[in-house]
Amino acid sequence: MSSTQVSPAAPTVHAEGSPTEPWWRHAVIYQVYPRSFADASGDGMGDLPGITQRLPHLAELGVDALWLSPFYRSPQNDAGYDVADYRDVDPLFGDLADFDALAARAHELGLRVIVDLVPNHTSDQHPWFRAALAAAPGSRERARYVFRDGRGPGGSLPPNNWHSTFGGVAWERTTNPDGTTGQWYLHLFDSTQPDLDWTNPEVRAEFEAILRFWLDRGADGFRVDVAHGLVKRAGLPDWEEPAGDGAEPITHADGKHPAWDQNGVHEIYRSWRHVLDEYPGERAMVAEAWVEPLSRLAGYVRPDEMHQAFNFAYLLAGWDPARLRSVIAASYVVNDAVGAPTTWVLSNHDVVRHATRLGLADPTSRPNGIGLHDEQPDAVLGLRRARAASLLTLALPGSAYLYQGEELGLPEHTSLDDELRQDPTYRRTEGKELGRDGCRIPLPWAADEPAMGFSPTGATWLPQPPEYAPLALDRQRGVAGSTYELYRAALRLRREHGLGTGGFAWVAGPGDASATGGAYPPEVLAFSVRDVVVVANLGTTPVPAPTGLRVLLASTDVPDESQVPGESTVWFTR
Ligand code: GLC
Repeated sequence: MSSTQVSPAAPTVHAEGSPTEPWWRHAVIYQVYPRSFADASGDGMGDLPGITQRLPHLAELGVDALWLSPFYRSPQNDAGYDVADYRDVDPLFGDLADFDALAARAHELGLRVIVDLVPNHTSDQHPWFRAALAAAPGSRERARYVFRDGRGPGGSLPPNNWHSTFGGVAWERTTNPDGTTGQWYLHLFDSTQPDLDWTNPEVRAEFEAILRFWLDRGADGFRVDVAHGLVKRAGLPDWEEPAGDGAEPITHADGKHPAWDQNGVHEIYRSWRHVLDEYPGERAMVAEAWVEPLSRLAGYVRPDEMHQAFNFAYLLAGWDPARLRSVIAASYVVNDAVGAPTTWVLSNHDVVRHATRLGLADPTSRPNGIGLHDEQPDAVLGLRRARAASLLTLALPGSAYLYQGEELGLPEHTSLDDELRQDPTYRRTEGKELGRDGCRIPLPWAADEPAMGFSPTGATWLPQPPEYAPLALDRQRGVAGSTYELYRAALRLRREHGLGTGGFAWVAGPGDASATGGAYPPEVLAFSVRDVVVVANLGTTPVPAPTGLRVLLASTDVPDESQVPGESTVWFTR
């Protein structure tokens, strides 16, 4: 690995780190969505043994770790983000021995395993919630959740005006054991996901014990679900949404909304950090916190809190060079200020896949699902831009998250039959928002096999669109220029050139500070990391390549090495 900066004249935005720094500062982490990764049992639902069988794929791809979305016991009203038992595997996915086998095999292959922790709410089938419903108002059982009397005559109105993220009001009225109407409970998500009361020491103790349970079983860390939601402002005051904000499918917050990003959450993460620090092996936590601005997000990764937070501002910047430029620069500034690595993410199980989003007429839009009656993406353009965006992402110092299937260039399923939709959002908004099923489709492993290799019986819990067959892994593996081989090469070169721990400096133009070739136009993002210069050309016309360098990797064909084609990213080196 070389530590030579190609462009010493450029101002450094982010200083170079050491290649020996902890893994999570620069890791590439692959999100496995267990329902849709691989099905060993043949029931059409992915499972832990299926994941274990396919782990060599992740090793070959070249990632450092996998993050598993929830596989715990759950009635699956929100695809497992409604947990009924935090210490057991849902029979749909296998059992604890299957988890142990998965973790052991992953570790053998040099892959770390991050599990998902869902602390904001439980399932309504969790024993605590069942006990709470059976107990009286004011009881110890109810004090673990947020039960309140209703407002208005007979308490018939919800205790405040908060909305559920999935649509509708955030409160559900209970029925007393004797059949009379009772108190209300808070659910920031589905009504089957009651919010816990994090001011209750019993809740805090329980989750520290859950952390230890998985750390003892060999988990290398946690992705913390809804990390910005646990603490609510005392008194649960009403909140008027500022105009325009209500349209977002996932709430953004800046500490003003009484349900989100309250300062009280940080004390919880400080106590969790103590727990993780007791364990050897650099265990790590990543916050799923949809907060803004980035400086608020950095609060979650102060030295005594979490290790990482998902950088959703980057995901939301879409294909907008000005937004990307400012998010990248701001991410380094705010994270460097607290000594944390930044993360980069383009897709996950909650958003339209980037190969589709970037092919929409407005490539910064973020619809909550796409259906047959909506604008359909330009698939060719979407994939071209997705490959460019991914090469941009994988060159950035810090840690990167990949969502399963993006290494195949998978698009969203945009023609799913509405009857098959399972996301509670679809139901709770009465179909106004289609929800997230289209990004959760079972993976295509082998084009000509049953269920494209996902399941030995051909069963799939959601159907795969025909467009997935030519993108199946077996159609791309070993094929020069395929998206899969592009990702593999990017991950190998990222490692070889130490990009994850590199410094970051903008490059002004083809001849850099000497400006021999003039400055790049605004739709070009050019920067250097160690001995690599990256040129992401978001415009449609070719721009000159940096002078004196050769092409290392490109998201598209580069017929003339002196030019960077439009809508492409090229990595150069000496
Ligand atoms: C997070 C998860 C999402 C889930 C929600 C409620 O945003 O990523 O899938 O529905 O939390 O747990």
